[in-house]
Amino acid sequence: MCGIVGYIGVKSNPLEVVIEGLKQLEYRGYDSAGVAFIEDSKFRIYKEVGKISNLEAKVKNIDFSKVSNLAIGHTRWATHGGVTVPNAHPHISNSGEIILVHNGVIENYSVLKEMLVRKGYYFYSQTDTEVIVNLIEEHIKEDNTFEDAVILSVKELSGTFGLVISYLKEPDKLIAVRKGSPIVVGVGDNESIIASDINAIVKHTKNVIYLEDGEIAIVRKDDIKTKDFAGEDVKKDVFVVDWEIESLNKGNYPHYMLKEIFEQPVAIENCIRGRLLEDEGAVKLGGIAKLENYIHKIRKFVFIGCGTAYYAGMVGKYVMENIGGILTEVDYASEFRYRNPMVSPRDVVVAVSQSGETMDTLEALREAKRKGSITMGIVNVVGSTIAREAGMGIYIHAGPEIGVASTKAFTNMMVAIIMLSVFVGRRKRLGIFEGREIVSNLKKIPELVEYTLNTTNKITNDIAKEFYKSRNFLYLGRHYNYPIALEGALKLKEISYIHAEGYPAAEMKHGPIALIDENMPVVVIATKGSIYSKIISNIQEVKARGGKVISIVNEDDKEISKISDYVVTVPNTIEVLSPIINVIPLQLLAYHIATIKGLDVDKPRNLAKSVTVE
Ligand code: AGP
Ligand code: GLU
Repeated sequence: MCGIVGYIGVKSNPLEVVIEGLKQLEYRGYDSAGVAFIEDSKFRIYKEVGKISNLEAKVKNIDFSKVSNLAIGHTRWATHGGVTVPNAHPHISNSGEIILVHNGVIENYSVLKEMLVRKGYYFYSQTDTEVIVNLIEEHIKEDNTFEDAVILSVKELSGTFGLVISYLKEPDKLIAVRKGSPIVVGVGDNESIIASDINAIVKHTKNVIYLEDGEIAIVRKDDIKTKDFAGEDVKKDVFVVDWEIESLNKGNYPHYMLKEIFEQPVAIENCIRGRLLEDEGAVKLGGIAKLENYIHKIRKFVFIGCGTAYYAGMVGKYVMENIGGILTEVDYASEFRYRNPMVSPRDVVVAVSQSGETMDTLEALREAKRKGSITMGIVNVVGSTIAREAGMGIYIHAGPEIGVASTKAFTNMMVAIIMLSVFVGRRKRLGIFEGREIVSNLKKIPELVEYTLNTTNKITNDIAKEFYKSRNFLYLGRHYNYPIALEGALKLKEISYIHAEGYPAAEMKHGPIALIDENMPVVVIATKGSIYSKIISNIQEVKARGGKVISIVNEDDKEISKISDYVVTVPNTIEVLSPIINVIPLQLLAYHIATIKGLDVDKPRNLAKSVTVE
C-alpha cells in the first residue's frame, strides 16, 4: 500500500504539491510520512511517525528560497520494520546521493542486503526498501548512468515496487518505476507529478500517463520518456481523467465516510445513467457488449474480490443465478489465486474492486487470464490496473472514495452486478416483464436510498448510543441479504474495533447461538421477501435466549416490529434490490458507533484503503 508522490517543475515550493498530494493519498497508509528535497546541493529529509499533519507541522517554516524545484514524499503502511522514524521513507543511499520512496515489498531483500553489507554498506532501517537505494548506488559506482543503474537494479529485485528516485547529480529529472504497485505520471504545464494514484495529481493536471508493470519513466518538468526494463523506448498514450478536485474534499461533512454514505443516491444515479432500457426491460452496457457473442457458450461466472468487494460478489452469486440463470461462484481473490481454480475459456471471471489496484484481486485476474478464461472488471477507478487488464468491464462510476471503509463503492458494485445479471438474463431465461420490473425499480433506487438516508440517520444514532459499549455484535441475514449481514459486521469491525460476526440467520442455531445472552446485540435484516417467515423464527430463537434484537424491517411490517427491541424501518422495493437499501442503516450504525467512541472513522487503525501488497 502506501502513497508516493514526486514533483519536478517550476513551482517555488515543490513541497506544498507533495504534502498536498500525500494528504490525498493518506487513505493508502498512514503509519508515518516523509518528504525530501534538494537544498544547497544536499538532500534534506523530514520524517514523522503518524499522520501527514504531523509532518506538515514540521516543515511549515522551511525557507524555500534555496530549495530545488523537485521533491518526493511518502505515506507508509509498514510491511518490513516497525513504525519508526528511521523506517519511514524516503530512504537515502550511503553516499547521500540517491534517494527514493517505495510502495510494495521486496521479497529477496535479505539476500541483497547481505551482499551489500559484505561490500561495506551500512543499513539504518529495518525496511526492505533501503536495499534498493544502495543497490542503485552500487551500480552507479560501477560506472553506469543513473538510468542504467536503476534498470540494472530493478531487474535484480523480486516482489512488487512502485518507486520514485532522485539523484543529486542529475537534479533535472526523477525516475519512476513500476512493477506491481501503481504509478501514474501527471503531464502538467512545465511541471510533472508522479503519484500512486490520480487523486494526488488532478489538482494540477488532468493529463496522465499510466505506467505498466515493467516500465520506467524518466520524468523532467517538460518531458517524459518511458522505457521497459530492457531499456527499449515505449510509447505511451496520455489519458484525460474526469475527476474534479472538489469531489476530493469533505465539503460540509465531518468525515469522508459520512459524505460518501450520503453521496450514494447521486453515485447510483451516475452508475445507471444511460444504461437502463425500460421498454425492453433490459440494460445497455457498452464495456461488455462483446460478451453477447458467446453468451450461450458460457458455463459459469466467478466473482472474485477482497473484503467489501468480495461481499458485493457474493450478492452477485445470488443475483446472477436467480436472474441471470447461470451457475455462479464467488471466491476471495487471495484464495482463488492459489487454489488452482477450475476455470476454462468458457467461464467468465469477474474481478470486483473499488481501487482497481488490490494486489490479490489483480493477481487472481491474471491467473484467470492464464487459464484462458474470459475476464471482466467491475471497477471504480477509471484507468486503474484491473480496469486496463480485464478483457472487458463495467465502471461503477461512484466517484472518488476516500474513506477507508467502503460505502458508496459497495452499493454501486451491487448495482453494476445486478445490471450485468439483467444483461445476461435477458439473453437467457429472463422474460421482458420480469426484466421491466427490475429495470423500473432500479430506476427508483436513488430516490429510495435518499429517503432511507434521511429516515434512518437519527434512529441508527440513537441505537448507537445504546450499544456503543458492547464488545460483540451479531449480524444476521438470509439469501440476498446474507452478504449484507457480513458487510454490516465488517463495517463495524473496521471503524469501531468492536468484534462482529455476520451469519446466515438459519446457521445461528448450528453454533453461534451459544454466544447469545442479554449482552449480545443482534442486528437482523428482516425485510419482506421469500424467506420472511423463516427469519421470524430465527428472531424468536434469539429472543428466547435474552439477546437484544435490532431489526431492519419494511415500513409496512407488522410482525417483526412486535418482537424486536429496536426497529429501523426502510422503504419497500423488490427483493433482488433490497440489499442496496438494507446496507444503508448498517453503514450509518457503524459510523455512529465509531464517532460516539471518538475514533477516526476515515483512517481506522492498521488499515489502508488500497491494499497493493499480497
Ligand atoms: C472495505 O471497507 C475495506 N476497507 C476493504 O475490505 C476493501 O473492500 C478491500 O480491501 C478491497 O478493496 P478494492 O475494492 O479497492 O479492491
Ligand atoms: N515495504 C516498504 C516498507 O515497509 C514499503 C511499504 C509501503 O508500501 O508503504 O517500508
